Amino acid sequence: MSDFPLERVRRETRGLPSACHFNNAGAALMPAPVMDRLMDWLGDEERRGGYEVEEGRRAELEDFYVAASAMLNCQASEIAFIENATRAWNMAFYGLALGAGDHVLAPLSEYGSNVIALRQQADRRGFTLEFMADDEAGVVDLAWLSNRLADRSRPVRLIALSHVPTGNGLVNPAAEVGRLARAHDVPYLLDACQSLGQMPVDSPDRCLWARGRGRSTARAVSDRRADSPARQGRPHRPRHRP
Ligand SMILES: Cc1ncc(COP(=O)(O)O)c(C=O)c1O
Repeated sequence: MSDFPLERVRRETRGLPSACHFNNAGAALMPAPVMDRLMDWLGDEERRGGYEVEEGRRAELEDFYVAASAMLNCQASEIAFIENATRAWNMAFYGLALGAGDHVLAPLSEYGSNVIALRQQADRRGFTLEFMADDEAGVVDLAWLSNRLADRSRPVRLIALSHVPTGNGLVNPAAEVGRLARAHDVPYLLDACQSLGQMPVDSPDRCLWARGRGRSTARAVSDRRADSPARQGRPHRPRHRP
Protein backbone atom coordinates (compact mmCIF):
# COMPACT_ATOMS: atom_id res chain seq x y z
CA MET A 1 0.00 0.00 0.00
CA SER A 2 3.10 2.29 0.06
CA ASP A 3 2.19 3.82 -3.33
CA PHE A 4 -1.42 4.48 -2.27
CA PRO A 5 -2.07 8.23 -2.83
CA LEU A 6 -3.49 8.83 0.63
CA GLU A 7 -3.17 12.62 0.60
CA ARG A 8 -4.86 12.91 -2.78
CA VAL A 9 -7.67 10.60 -1.69
CA ARG A 10 -8.15 12.72 1.44
CA ARG A 11 -8.22 15.92 -0.60
CA GLU A 12 -10.78 14.43 -2.95
CA THR A 13 -13.11 13.24 -0.18
CA ARG A 14 -15.21 16.23 0.85
CA GLY A 15 -16.84 14.26 3.67
CA LEU A 16 -13.47 14.51 5.45
CA PRO A 17 -12.23 15.77 7.83
CA SER A 18 -15.60 16.37 9.50
CA ALA A 19 -16.35 12.63 9.58
CA CYS A 20 -14.57 9.38 10.31
CA HIS A 21 -16.55 7.05 8.09
CA PHE A 22 -15.77 3.38 8.64
CA ASN A 23 -18.91 1.99 7.02
CA ASN A 24 -17.23 1.50 3.65
CA ALA A 25 -18.28 -2.02 2.68
CA GLY A 26 -20.95 -1.25 0.11
CA ALA A 27 -20.81 2.52 -0.14
CA ALA A 28 -17.90 4.65 0.99
CA LEU A 29 -17.93 8.46 1.01
CA MET A 30 -18.16 9.46 -2.61
CA PRO A 31 -15.03 11.07 -4.09
CA ALA A 32 -15.36 14.65 -5.36
CA PRO A 33 -14.47 13.87 -9.02
CA VAL A 34 -17.26 11.25 -9.18
CA MET A 35 -19.80 13.51 -7.48
CA ASP A 36 -18.88 16.51 -9.64
CA ARG A 37 -19.23 14.50 -12.84
CA LEU A 38 -22.60 13.11 -11.81
CA MET A 39 -23.93 16.53 -10.85
CA ASP A 40 -22.58 18.06 -14.05
CA TRP A 41 -24.33 15.43 -16.14
CA LEU A 42 -27.62 15.65 -14.26
CA GLY A 43 -27.55 19.45 -14.40
CA ASP A 44 -27.03 19.29 -18.15
CA GLU A 45 -29.99 16.94 -18.49
CA GLU A 46 -32.10 19.23 -16.32
CA ARG A 47 -31.36 22.17 -18.61
CA ARG A 48 -31.20 20.54 -22.05
CA GLY A 49 -33.08 17.22 -21.81
CA GLY A 50 -31.80 13.63 -21.58
CA TYR A 51 -31.86 12.76 -25.31
CA GLU A 52 -30.13 16.00 -26.26
CA VAL A 53 -27.37 15.40 -23.73
CA GLU A 54 -26.96 11.82 -24.91
CA GLU A 55 -26.55 13.07 -28.47
CA GLY A 56 -24.31 16.00 -27.62
CA ARG A 57 -22.03 14.09 -25.27
CA ARG A 58 -21.92 10.78 -27.13
CA ALA A 59 -18.12 10.81 -27.29
CA GLU A 60 -17.96 10.91 -23.50
CA LEU A 61 -20.39 7.99 -23.26
CA GLU A 62 -18.38 5.96 -25.77
CA ASP A 63 -15.17 6.75 -23.92
CA PHE A 64 -16.50 4.68 -21.01
CA TYR A 65 -15.94 1.48 -23.01
CA VAL A 66 -12.38 2.44 -23.93
CA ALA A 67 -11.52 3.46 -20.36
CA ALA A 68 -13.07 0.30 -18.90
CA SER A 69 -11.21 -1.92 -21.36
CA ALA A 70 -7.91 -0.23 -20.49
CA MET A 71 -8.62 -0.97 -16.84
CA LEU A 72 -9.36 -4.63 -17.54
CA ASN A 73 -6.76 -5.12 -20.29
CA CYS A 74 -9.30 -6.30 -22.84
CA GLN A 75 -11.04 -4.99 -25.96
CA ALA A 76 -13.63 -2.19 -25.70
CA SER A 77 -16.03 -4.48 -27.61
CA GLU A 78 -15.79 -7.00 -24.75
CA ILE A 79 -17.25 -4.55 -22.21
CA ALA A 80 -20.97 -4.60 -21.43
CA PHE A 81 -22.54 -1.93 -19.25
CA ILE A 82 -25.39 -3.23 -17.07
CA GLU A 83 -27.50 -1.33 -14.56
CA ASN A 84 -26.09 -3.04 -11.51
CA ALA A 85 -23.65 -5.75 -10.56
CA THR A 86 -26.13 -8.39 -9.41
CA ARG A 87 -27.97 -8.15 -12.70
CA ALA A 88 -24.68 -8.38 -14.62
CA TRP A 89 -23.55 -11.47 -12.72
CA ASN A 90 -26.97 -13.09 -13.20
CA MET A 91 -26.95 -12.42 -16.94
CA ALA A 92 -23.60 -14.16 -17.29
CA PHE A 93 -24.44 -17.03 -14.96
CA TYR A 94 -27.98 -17.78 -16.16
CA GLY A 95 -26.66 -17.96 -19.72
CA LEU A 96 -24.43 -20.93 -18.95
CA ALA A 97 -25.62 -24.39 -19.96
CA LEU A 98 -25.24 -26.25 -16.67
CA GLY A 99 -27.09 -29.45 -15.89
CA ALA A 100 -27.23 -32.74 -14.04
CA GLY A 101 -23.80 -34.26 -13.48
CA ASP A 102 -22.04 -30.87 -13.57
CA HIS A 103 -20.28 -29.40 -10.54
CA VAL A 104 -19.99 -25.70 -9.74
CA LEU A 105 -17.43 -24.38 -7.25
CA ALA A 106 -17.78 -21.22 -5.17
CA PRO A 107 -16.03 -19.96 -2.01
CA LEU A 108 -17.77 -19.92 1.36
CA SER A 109 -17.34 -16.15 1.26
CA GLU A 110 -19.22 -15.79 -2.05
CA TYR A 111 -21.49 -12.74 -2.30
CA GLY A 112 -25.00 -13.46 -1.00
CA SER A 113 -27.00 -12.70 -4.13
CA ASN A 114 -24.62 -14.88 -6.19
CA VAL A 115 -25.22 -17.76 -3.78
CA ILE A 116 -28.99 -17.32 -4.05
CA ALA A 117 -28.74 -17.68 -7.84
CA LEU A 118 -26.33 -20.61 -7.56
CA ARG A 119 -28.61 -22.46 -5.14
CA GLN A 120 -31.75 -21.73 -7.15
CA GLN A 121 -30.21 -22.98 -10.37
CA ALA A 122 -28.63 -26.01 -8.67
CA ASP A 123 -32.15 -27.01 -7.53
CA ARG A 124 -33.73 -26.35 -10.91
CA ARG A 125 -31.09 -27.70 -13.25
CA GLY A 126 -29.69 -30.47 -11.08
CA PHE A 127 -26.02 -29.51 -10.99
CA THR A 128 -24.07 -29.82 -7.75
CA LEU A 129 -22.95 -26.66 -5.93
CA GLU A 130 -19.76 -27.24 -3.93
CA PHE A 131 -18.10 -24.76 -1.61
CA MET A 132 -14.33 -24.64 -1.94
CA ALA A 133 -12.01 -25.42 0.96
CA ASP A 134 -10.27 -22.39 2.44
CA ASP A 135 -7.50 -21.66 4.91
CA GLU A 136 -7.81 -20.31 8.46
CA ALA A 137 -8.12 -16.74 7.08
CA GLY A 138 -10.91 -17.76 4.71
CA VAL A 139 -8.80 -17.52 1.52
CA VAL A 140 -9.48 -20.17 -1.13
CA ASP A 141 -7.12 -23.15 -0.73
CA LEU A 142 -5.31 -23.42 -4.08
CA ALA A 143 -3.86 -26.88 -3.41
CA TRP A 144 -7.35 -28.18 -2.67
CA LEU A 145 -8.69 -26.50 -5.80
CA SER A 146 -5.94 -27.96 -7.98
CA ASN A 147 -6.70 -31.48 -6.72
CA ARG A 148 -10.43 -30.96 -7.06
CA LEU A 149 -10.14 -29.82 -10.68
CA ALA A 150 -8.01 -32.87 -11.48
CA ASP A 151 -10.82 -35.19 -10.33
CA ARG A 152 -12.48 -35.97 -13.67
CA SER A 153 -15.09 -38.22 -12.08
CA ARG A 154 -16.88 -35.07 -10.79
CA PRO A 155 -16.41 -32.59 -13.65
CA VAL A 156 -16.26 -28.91 -12.65
CA ARG A 157 -18.12 -26.74 -15.20
CA LEU A 158 -17.83 -23.37 -13.47
CA ILE A 159 -15.76 -21.61 -10.82
CA ALA A 160 -17.49 -18.55 -9.31
CA LEU A 161 -15.34 -16.35 -7.10
CA SER A 162 -15.82 -13.06 -5.29
CA HIS A 163 -12.37 -11.47 -5.47
CA VAL A 164 -12.91 -9.28 -2.39
CA PRO A 165 -15.99 -10.30 -0.39
CA THR A 166 -18.19 -7.42 0.69
CA GLY A 167 -17.45 -6.70 4.31
CA ASN A 168 -14.24 -8.20 5.63
CA GLY A 169 -11.08 -7.18 3.76
CA LEU A 170 -10.34 -10.71 2.59
CA VAL A 171 -8.59 -10.93 -0.81
CA ASN A 172 -9.02 -14.17 -2.71
CA PRO A 173 -6.21 -15.24 -5.07
CA ALA A 174 -8.14 -14.39 -8.23
CA ALA A 175 -5.17 -14.65 -10.61
CA GLU A 176 -4.10 -18.05 -9.33
CA VAL A 177 -7.65 -19.38 -9.46
CA GLY A 178 -7.89 -18.04 -13.01
CA ARG A 179 -4.70 -19.86 -14.01
CA LEU A 180 -6.01 -23.14 -12.59
CA ALA A 181 -9.37 -22.61 -14.32
CA ARG A 182 -7.63 -22.01 -17.64
CA ALA A 183 -5.34 -25.02 -17.20
CA HIS A 184 -8.42 -27.20 -16.72
CA ASP A 185 -10.53 -25.39 -19.32
CA VAL A 186 -13.20 -24.41 -16.77
CA PRO A 187 -15.19 -21.14 -17.19
CA TYR A 188 -14.39 -18.64 -14.46
CA LEU A 189 -16.92 -16.07 -13.22
CA LEU A 190 -15.11 -13.44 -11.18
CA ASP A 191 -17.01 -10.92 -9.07
CA ALA A 192 -14.61 -7.98 -8.87
CA CYS A 193 -17.14 -5.54 -7.39
CA GLN A 194 -14.99 -4.55 -4.46
CA SER A 195 -11.60 -4.85 -6.15
CA LEU A 196 -11.91 -3.18 -9.54
CA GLY A 197 -10.61 0.35 -9.26
CA GLN A 198 -8.97 -0.45 -5.93
CA MET A 199 -6.33 -2.92 -7.07
CA PRO A 200 -5.13 -4.35 -10.40
CA VAL A 201 -7.67 -6.63 -12.08
CA ASP A 202 -6.47 -7.93 -15.41
CA SER A 203 -8.88 -9.89 -17.53
CA PRO A 204 -7.48 -10.23 -21.03
CA ASP A 205 -10.27 -12.43 -22.28
CA ARG A 206 -14.04 -11.97 -21.95
CA CYS A 207 -15.05 -9.13 -19.61
CA LEU A 208 -18.41 -8.10 -18.25
CA TRP A 209 -18.59 -4.75 -16.49
CA ALA A 210 -21.33 -3.36 -14.34
CA ARG A 211 -21.71 -0.17 -12.44
CA GLY A 212 -24.04 0.49 -9.56
CA ARG A 213 -25.39 3.50 -7.73
CA GLY A 214 -22.95 5.97 -9.23
CA ARG A 215 -20.01 4.19 -7.68
CA SER A 216 -17.73 1.81 -9.48
CA THR A 217 -18.77 -1.77 -8.97
CA ALA A 218 -17.60 -4.26 -11.51
CA ARG A 219 -17.66 -7.81 -12.62
CA ALA A 220 -15.21 -9.49 -14.93
CA VAL A 221 -15.96 -12.79 -16.61
CA SER A 222 -12.73 -14.36 -17.65
CA ASP A 223 -11.32 -17.74 -18.45
CA ARG A 224 -7.83 -16.30 -18.44
CA ARG A 225 -6.54 -14.45 -15.46
CA ALA A 226 -7.35 -11.74 -12.98
CA ASP A 227 -4.46 -10.24 -11.12
CA SER A 228 -4.55 -9.33 -7.49
CA PRO A 229 -1.65 -8.44 -5.24
CA ALA A 230 -0.43 -11.33 -3.10
CA ARG A 231 -2.25 -9.81 -0.17
CA GLN A 232 -4.31 -12.00 2.05
CA GLY A 233 -6.77 -10.81 4.57
CA ARG A 234 -8.29 -11.18 7.95
CA PRO A 235 -10.63 -13.92 9.11
CA HIS A 236 -13.89 -13.49 7.27
CA ARG A 237 -17.64 -13.71 7.84
CA PRO A 238 -20.27 -14.47 6.79
CA ARG A 239 -19.82 -17.97 5.42
CA HIS A 240 -22.47 -19.88 3.53
CA ARG A 241 -22.84 -23.35 4.88
CA PRO A 242 -23.15 -26.12 2.30
C1 LIG B 1 -18.79 -8.54 -3.88
C2 LIG B 1 -20.09 -7.89 -4.30
N1 LIG B 1 -20.79 -8.41 -5.31
C3 LIG B 1 -21.97 -7.86 -5.71
C4 LIG B 1 -22.48 -6.72 -5.11
C5 LIG B 1 -23.83 -6.18 -5.58
O1 LIG B 1 -23.73 -4.99 -6.27
P1 LIG B 1 -25.08 -4.29 -6.82
O2 LIG B 1 -25.73 -3.65 -5.65
O3 LIG B 1 -24.60 -3.29 -7.85
O4 LIG B 1 -25.95 -5.35 -7.42
C6 LIG B 1 -21.78 -6.13 -4.06
C7 LIG B 1 -22.31 -4.90 -3.40
O5 LIG B 1 -21.77 -4.37 -2.49
C8 LIG B 1 -20.56 -6.73 -3.64
O6 LIG B 1 -19.86 -6.23 -2.63
